[in-house]
Amino acid sequence: MELTSPSEETKKPQKKAVITESVPKIAKIQLVSSHPEVYEPCDDSFLLVDALLADRLNLINQNPKFCLEIGCGSGYVITSLALILSQCNPSTQFFATDINLHAAQTTLQTSANHGIHCEVVVTDIASCLQKRLQKSIDVLVVNPPYVPTPEDEVGAVGIVSSWAGGFNGRTVIDKILDVVDELLSTNGLTYMVALSENDPSEICQVMREKGFGSKIALQRSTEEERLCVIKFWRERETNEVDREITDNGSSLNGWLGRVPFVNSLWKKGNETSNS
Ligand SMILES: C[S@@+](CC[C@H](N)C(=O)[O-])C[C@H]1O[C@@H](n2cnc3c(N)ncnc32)[C@H](O)[C@@H]1O
Repeated sequence: MELTSPSEETKKPQKKAVITESVPKIAKIQLVSSHPEVYEPCDDSFLLVDALLADRLNLINQNPKFCLEIGCGSGYVITSLALILSQCNPSTQFFATDINLHAAQTTLQTSANHGIHCEVVVTDIASCLQKRLQKSIDVLVVNPPYVPTPEDEVGAVGIVSSWAGGFNGRTVIDKILDVVDELLSTNGLTYMVALSENDPSEICQVMREKGFGSKIALQRSTEEERLCVIKFWRERETNEVDREITDNGSSLNGWLGRVPFVNSLWKKGNETSNS
């Protein structure tokens, strides 16, 4: 290689390129809209966003085209997901549903406050979108109503529908599990919040029977509850995806191996905390 003398221009001291790892953006609490009948971002919402942040490289590599949140509430989670993904595909489309009209309106405001376009639909689970988005959702996020309550509180008008989860807190969760296969694309990923009382290992078993792999992406205890985020993906024969994701946590097999331990921790309730 021939070395040439630098021109006058290049002799000037050059600014050094500073390579920094960019801090991923999430929704700003002060830009999250609110309404008395809408669930405010809370520990469970933050746990879900933390799980998305922890898995952001997998999410970005996924190059998602369609993302959906079921039960969007204030819009904090879907807006954060959109911001986390903003550095990959600018044409990614974001959808959100809620059974509560005020929540849909609040999500529209929150996403607009962050410069995000999100299509929000008032519907039960995702019923109005199921045909349109059949097998095309690349990222599905859900923080469902998971608190064990009397069955007649499930789906009640207003804020009660935010937490009322019926028997074992599983009524709405089980309805959502039933539509994951219908919605998720071949490489699609689902992230769902669950409470220890919802029996996360049984949720994983239900999904396993439907052909999905799963793992606990993140878990955290608060004074009141022990929460986790379960990640689901379509199981492939090669276990390719399973291998891909193990860098951020244990695979289902690894996790199931520890189920008695996890369950016993959860049964003890608030005695332990690993947040
Ligand atoms: C625990 S809040 C979560 C809100 C928001 N995603 C967050 O993490 O802050 C649950 C949300 O699910 C909504 N929801 C309850 N039942 C639903 C159903 N059957 N279909 C759609 N949304 C539902 C509630 O209105 C509420 O906004």
